[in-house]
Amino acid sequence: MTKIRPDSRLLSASAYVRQGGFLADIGTDHAYLPVYLCQEGIISRALACDIAEGPCLRAQKTIKSAGLTEQITVVQTDGLQGLEDKGISDITICGMGGELIASILEKAPFIRDKNIRLILLPMTKVAALRLFLSENGFLIEGETLSSVSGKIYTCICASFEGTPYTLSPFALEFGAHLPASPSPLLKTLMEKKKRDLKKRIEGAKKAGKDGEKDTLLLNEIERYLYDCR
Ligand SMILES: C[S@@+](CC[C@H](N)C(=O)[O-])C[C@H]1O[C@@H](n2cnc3c(N)ncnc32)[C@H](O)[C@@H]1O
Repeated sequence: MTKIRPDSRLLSASAYVRQGGFLADIGTDHAYLPVYLCQEGIISRALACDIAEGPCLRAQKTIKSAGLTEQITVVQTDGLQGLEDKGISDITICGMGGELIASILEKAPFIRDKNIRLILLPMTKVAALRLFLSENGFLIEGETLSSVSGKIYTCICASFEGTPYTLSPFALEFGAHLPASPSPLLKTLMEKKKRDLKKRIEGAKKAGKDGEKDTLLLNEIERYLYDCR
């Protein structure tokens, strides 16, 4: 039987899946995440879901070679469509852009349920995803950074609470619950953002604009890093 060994990105998502949960992995592709979680005994059943046929066939292959066809069902569907009555407790959506993840969540009213845990790992546009979560009353319960081949990924764990709230531009960019002292990965992320902002501010100045929002964010990053010294 093939044993799955996920990289640290997928491991960071797997750590939020609850013991004994019924998982739906959306955009599963090879189904590595649900197969790993079953092999580790964290879950005993899952839906491995993808919009496209090729990934569904790949998922089926991984599941078969792991001997898990009784535990994991492949579902070809767009996002969470058709999954409303399945009794899912945990949902992972990893490896898509933040805006696509937000649109998948938006189209699935059944996830507005405090018992359903969302585990979201966007490849891009993390701030757009945090904005969607805050404006729609999903509480961000935890976040984890991971790094693969020099690229840093954010995993967000959230669930519906019902009250929309506001996150500052700084919190949208880096997270709602920042540590008193930044981890090396968070520091790297902030240093990269500082470089990007400086370039944009420079460009804005050349175009005769003030770049005020970017300057405020840059100042806030510098203040946070200074205070954490
Ligand atoms: C880059 S792969 C990510 C695979 C795996 N989740 C990971 O993080 O390693 C993205 C997958 O999302 C699927 N996908 C894109 N849009 C989707 C949607 N609206 N609903 C379900 N799956 C989708 C693609 O077909 C593709 O297999």
